[in-house]
This record gives sequence, C-alpha cells and structure tokens, in this order.
Amino acid sequence: MIDIHTHILPNIDDGADSVSAASELLRMEAEQGVKEVVFTPHYYGTTTAEKFLALRETAKKSIEEYIPRGMKVRSGAEILLTGVNDPTDETICALAIEGTKCVMFELPFASHWSEHLLDRISDFIAETGYTPIIAHVERYTEALDNPSIITYLVQMGCLIQLNTHAFLEKSTRRFALALMKHGLVHCIGTDAHDPEKRAPEYAEAREVIRKKKRIDEFTNVQWCMKKILAGEALRNPYGQVKKIGKYYF
Ligand SMILES: [Fe+2]
Repeated sequence: MIDIHTHILPNIDDGADSVSAASELLRMEAEQGVKEVVFTPHYYGTTTAEKFLALRETAKKSIEEYIPRGMKVRSGAEILLTGVNDPTDETICALAIEGTKCVMFELPFASHWSEHLLDRISDFIAETGYTPIIAHVERYTEALDNPSIITYLVQMGCLIQLNTHAFLEKSTRRFALALMKHGLVHCIGTDAHDPEKRAPEYAEAREVIRKKKRIDEFTNVQWCMKKILAGEALRNPYGQVKKIGKYYF
C-alpha cells in the first residue's frame, strides 16, 4: 500500500515533534503493510519555497536511519490554497511530490469555496500542466454539503484524496464509501501526525473497505497512486465520471 499524505517528518509542522515520534510512525506504517510513504508537511506560504525545501531536507535526513527496510519514501507538501494571497504557480510547482507533476492542495475547511478559488485551481492546471491532488475531501464542509463539486474538480483535472480516517468515522463513512463506489477517489492517505493522537489507520480502514465490498475500488486507488508516483500525469483515470448529488449519500 502507498500512503500519499503524512506529517511524519519531524519538527517542520504540527506533525511528529521528534525523531522518535517519526520513527514510531514509520514503524507503524510498515507494520500495517505500507510500502511507500510520501512526506507532505504543511506549506502555508509563510516562508519561501527554498527555505521550506531546505527545512524538509534536514528533517528527512534526521530520520533516514529509521526508515524500515524495504520501504520507499519521498517528499511533497500539503499546500494551503484559499483563493486569497495564494503562493505563485512557480512556488507551488517547486513543492510537487518528488518525481511527479502532482501537487497536494488543502482547501478551506469551514467556509464556502469561492469562484475565485475554483478559477485559481483551474488556471493553475491550464498554465502549468500540473495535477492537483485535493487533500482529504471528507473534511470540507463544502464537499459534504455539495458533493457535486467533487465531480466538478475531477472534470477540471484534479485528483481526489481521502484520509483513512474517513472510513472509520461514522459521520463520513457513507460519504467516503459512496465516493469510492462512484470512482471519485484516486488517492488514500493516513494524514498521520502523531503515534498516539493521530496514528496511521491504514489496516483498519482497509478492513472496513473490505467488509463494505469496495476492495476492488481500493485496489484501483492503489493503482492510481502507483501511476502518480511513477510520474504519469493522470486525468480522470477511471474515464467518465458521474455528476453526483446529495441523494447518492
Ligand atoms: Fe495533512
């Protein structure tokens, strides 16, 4: 399995706060069957891309010796995009997942997504040719209230990521499984921050998905992530997508 969204790198954001916490998170990932991990520390635009990349490199070096045998790792970033004072295209592209033309966007949680924000994402795709991965869509009020916006984002050229926690939490499980059913999930990540409070839950989530008979879709998601990490630009990888409305949930 591939974990495309983590905050394992120590002392760079609100994720792991020590090398030992980071190494424990890596151990837990390996124990659950994760073979490849992408480090995606938060980027809030408060520093330059160069400074962020230097910090990220230092953090990565500090845990190199604790990477479990056989596990592949690479770096990326979770870039906050709000539609106001956003980083430039150049900065965003510099923070793409290593070896790919994919960037992970975190969008506003509680507020409505403005036309300006949606246009910003669409312009970014048109101008750079890079592919945004929209992080943990189950955590946004806008996506839960208006699921057709997910189809809109996919048609625009975005890929959709769910957190493993989405399958474990009662309030989001149906939503997450419905997105899987309708071919609207391309990436899954643990968004792991801490070995105690926000630990990886991949094995547990996979078990829920298996019980709910969505293991084929889960396999498709792993395939998508494999393609992404192989550097292939995916646009709507499952073909046509359905316009979904609230009644699907
Ligand atoms: Fe995150």
